[in-house]
Amino acid sequence: MNTGHVELGRAQQERWQTAYEQHPHLHGTEPSAAARWAAEVFGAAGIDDVLELGAGQGRDALFLAQQGFSVHATDFSASALDQLRLEAQRERLDDRVTAALHDVRDPLPPADATVDAVFANVLLNMAFTRAELRSLVGEVHRVLSPGGLFVYAVWSADDPCAGRWPQLEGGLAVHDGFAGRFFDEALIHELAERWRLDDTTTYAEGPRRLWRVTLAKPVPAG
Ligand SMILES: C[S@@+](CC[C@H](N)C(=O)[O-])C[C@H]1O[C@@H](n2cnc3c(N)ncnc32)[C@H](O)[C@@H]1O
Repeated sequence: MNTGHVELGRAQQERWQTAYEQHPHLHGTEPSAAARWAAEVFGAAGIDDVLELGAGQGRDALFLAQQGFSVHATDFSASALDQLRLEAQRERLDDRVTAALHDVRDPLPPADATVDAVFANVLLNMAFTRAELRSLVGEVHRVLSPGGLFVYAVWSADDPCAGRWPQLEGGLAVHDGFAGRFFDEALIHELAERWRLDDTTTYAEGPRRLWRVTLAKPVPAG
């Protein structure tokens, strides 16, 4: 990884911190469409506990907790997580929601095969190199138990802004100080290499076009 990319990572962390300090409900209070989907598929699979990555201020963590899941929410913004904890207390969901600071460019804390479900709304399309993305998806695979589910949503290459926002190196685009990547179908399939790809769906949410992806960690034969 070059120093420019390390600097970009630091700048992004500061950008998110500032945004969350200035906007108490940056992404609104309603759950994302992907969280509603995740609640359905995790519920149908009999899953109780969810690890959420890039949880932000926690609109989806709180929603999942309201649906009866226990949620461990992580993000690299301390400010977002403080707000998430406060909101969980206010809504008396703090027995079902925990939060911890974590940068997903570092290995995930859980031990191998100890997690049943991972959820990440609009995290994987942030300022990661393709190598970091492969490593992150590999980490999710490592911590999930066989049959465990991973639901994520990312910006789609079909988004009208994909060709409009200024380009950075390595396929990233930048808008208002936030850097990210628009995903095409080839990248989704590349990242699904060691997985069973259960579902890919494109949809619109607010001004964005997104992909929603559902992956299952295969159960070893025999
Ligand atoms: C577009 S926001 C989505 C927030 C939340 N999932 C939601 O839908 O409300 C992306 C989130 O990813 C977090 N993020 C970006 N890069 C990260 C990293 N390297 N490690 C952990 N979190 C990161 C940001 O702080 C931000 O909260």
